[in-house]
Amino acid sequence: MSLDDVEKCVAPGQSGQWNSLYVLLGVILMPVALPFVLMECFYRLRVKRYRNELAEKVVLITGASSGLGESLAHAFYKSGCKLILAARRITELERVKKDLLGLDVGTVTFPPVILPLDLAELKDIPTFAQKALEVHNQIDILVNNGGISVRATAISSAVDIDLKLMVVNYFGSVALTKALLPSMLKRKSGHICFISSVQGKFALPYRSAYSASKHALQAFSDSLRSEVANKGVHVTCISPGYIRTQLSMNALTSKGETYGKMDKTTNSGMRPEKVANRILNAIVCKEKDVIISDLQAKFAYYVRSICPSFYFWIIEKRARRLEKEEAAEQKKVK
Ligand SMILES: NC(=O)c1ccc[n+]([C@@H]2O[C@H](COP(=O)([O-])OP(=O)(O)OC[C@H]3O[C@@H](n4cnc5c(N)ncnc54)[C@H](OP(=O)(O)O)[C@@H]3O)[C@@H](O)[C@H]2O)c1
Repeated sequence: MSLDDVEKCVAPGQSGQWNSLYVLLGVILMPVALPFVLMECFYRLRVKRYRNELAEKVVLITGASSGLGESLAHAFYKSGCKLILAARRITELERVKKDLLGLDVGTVTFPPVILPLDLAELKDIPTFAQKALEVHNQIDILVNNGGISVRATAISSAVDIDLKLMVVNYFGSVALTKALLPSMLKRKSGHICFISSVQGKFALPYRSAYSASKHALQAFSDSLRSEVANKGVHVTCISPGYIRTQLSMNALTSKGETYGKMDKTTNSGMRPEKVANRILNAIVCKEKDVIISDLQAKFAYYVRSICPSFYFWIIEKRARRLEKEEAAEQKKVK
């Protein structure tokens, strides 16, 4: 089919009408789109300018042995930061460190330091914080990232599971923050970043303990931010949607065992490198509260705030679906 043939297919006057419609739409949408375009340009300029300020900053990342924490380690390392990597699995931290040292970054870099940390052992956290402070005499940025999830209904899981989730995801990060905050306040400088979740904004079925721990983290960070705002310390709370990591594999079941399965939602989630990069931008721009997710999670957040009864209806349906899936799986096992 030639161009002439195509033109013949269009009824006389039709293309002219379409052209006018496009012009009209352009004129109407331009004033709406322009502020967003300008805001995006302004944001990118700010990121470009402030990213350079990360060089030589001392960054402590918890949960740096895999997933998002590992990607954050790469992003901060490439920015010339002095890293302290913490988690329970030292062999995995050694692997991350080796990978980092093998990178050809093209800027001045510093060998990361590894420190063992179990967020569930609250009594050991002050000693850990002291050791972390002794490495470079200060912590400029603390990223509270370490955490675990759950795959169980509220009724099926013992209180011990809720307790474990709250201790690792909430109290562990709170204890570490409290142990490091005095040194930041003394220097009138520092940044504390909490890795929460969109489930800290709205709860989902089969995740009661996880959602509760992330809601608590969100509340703690909002409250803390207001208290330290005029003291040189910044607080950023990050709420990501699904990220392609080992989170579901490492999640706990109702019996406290490891779930060991990669969820479809997690597997089709965002790349951890992309999320880590966005988190770095949020930190350098001193953003306070950031949702990093697809439109579906953002929509759920707004529906939960504006029209809760509709949100409850949606998640009731989701709970029924999960219940059916679980029953079918148990039937298969039998
Ligand atoms: N993946 C997602 O879809 C998603 C979405 C929103 C938010 N998040 C949040 O992102 C953070 C990182 O999770 P991820 O997705 O990267 O999952 P991941 O690959 O399972 O990583 C979890 C990290 O937390 C550490 N951790 C677990 N228990 C710990 C403990 N008791 N003490 C110290 N460290 C502990 C693990 O290290 P060790 O096992 O070596 O201790 C690991 O490095 C979590 O806070 C999670 O809630 C994830």
